Amino acid sequence: MTLENDRMIRALLRQPVDRRPVWLMRQAGRYLPEYLALRQRVPNFMTFCKTPDLVCTATLQPLSRFPLDAAILFSDILTIPDAMGMSLRFDPEKGPLINDPIRQECDLQRLKPVKVLKDLAYVIDAIRLVTKELDGQVPLIGFAGSPWTMAVYMVEGQSSKMFTQIRTMTYQSPQLLHTLLTRLAVVTVEYLNAQIVAGAKIVMLFDTWGGLLSYGEYLEFSLHYMRFIMQRLHRSFNGQPVPVILFTKNAAPWLSQIAASGCDAVGIDASLNMLTVKQQIGSQVALQGNLDPFLLFAKPEIIQQRVGELLDCFGSAPGLVVNLGHGVDRHTPVEGVAAMVEAVHQHRCSL
Ligand code: CP3
Repeated sequence: MTLENDRMIRALLRQPVDRRPVWLMRQAGRYLPEYLALRQRVPNFMTFCKTPDLVCTATLQPLSRFPLDAAILFSDILTIPDAMGMSLRFDPEKGPLINDPIRQECDLQRLKPVKVLKDLAYVIDAIRLVTKELDGQVPLIGFAGSPWTMAVYMVEGQSSKMFTQIRTMTYQSPQLLHTLLTRLAVVTVEYLNAQIVAGAKIVMLFDTWGGLLSYGEYLEFSLHYMRFIMQRLHRSFNGQPVPVILFTKNAAPWLSQIAASGCDAVGIDASLNMLTVKQQIGSQVALQGNLDPFLLFAKPEIIQQRVGELLDCFGSAPGLVVNLGHGVDRHTPVEGVAAMVEAVHQHRCSL
């Protein structure tokens, strides 16, 4: 099936576009009243994720409000740890909670082998459903967490300020951690390839916590496994290229290694100057980002101005996808998102 709107794919491949594509990380979710209403139908977040028709509706909700250039599957990066049998809960305030975190060798034996097409069938079914509903209007982004970021939750048991447990593990039990990361990477390859076969046109790796590692440890414990995954993904399917976006938050020290890792595009967080990043790696890969999620709380004029600055710093160079530097905050006014998307549509520049 050919896409009606292929701006996202073209921008990710650094091909010319008529207008810069725009989507937002966490574009579906709690800032949307219609998501909150839908979420009431089930007792908890994982049950929601495991119900393909709810997932399909939530995925499409932001697209019926805003003229976005891509849909992202409504799901979570912790579906794989869940399939491995870790008892996962989501607390509205604390985020993900895991009861029996991985701390020693014997804990690995508790992890179940994952059969993607069976244990994660709910994700694959949801992708098929969304693909059918989208009917080629815009591409669907499939995703997974980086092995490191999944391991952070599996070892810490919850979000943390210091991440002491896993950072200690990198020095005290590196072999244990490598065994865990390898298992996660192998499942992730199978998981993302199944998403591509089911209809995902783009895939994204979320490495939210890679940036907390020291220089060498990031390369060894995070980027290495993302490269492992990218080398094994279907990079084209049914004759169409399947671009890969890699997002590490706080990636400044490693931009050149990330750009050379085999991805098509790099997600950039809001702490960086996009012009500088473009000069560093913009001739090798496309860039995605990097507006501050909290900009969406500003007046529409300010949002418009910041979107303008971002677009202007690219001029007519190829390879920009407009996005935030991290996910939409749950308290974001819907009008802020509307103003951002509209500003991208209105911007006049020489493309
Ligand atoms: O619209 C989209 O972007 C798709 C949905 C999506 C969710 N999680 C839905 C969600 C995506 C892409 C994710 C990825 C994810 N999940 C990441 C990587 C991106 C990032 O934000 O750094 C991480 C670290 C997680 C783990 C996770 N899941 C956390 C930390 C939390 C709680 C914090 C929060 O923002 O709520 C979740 C729960 C979660 N994932 C919710 C949603 C909509 C909220 C739960 C609810 O609605 O009940």
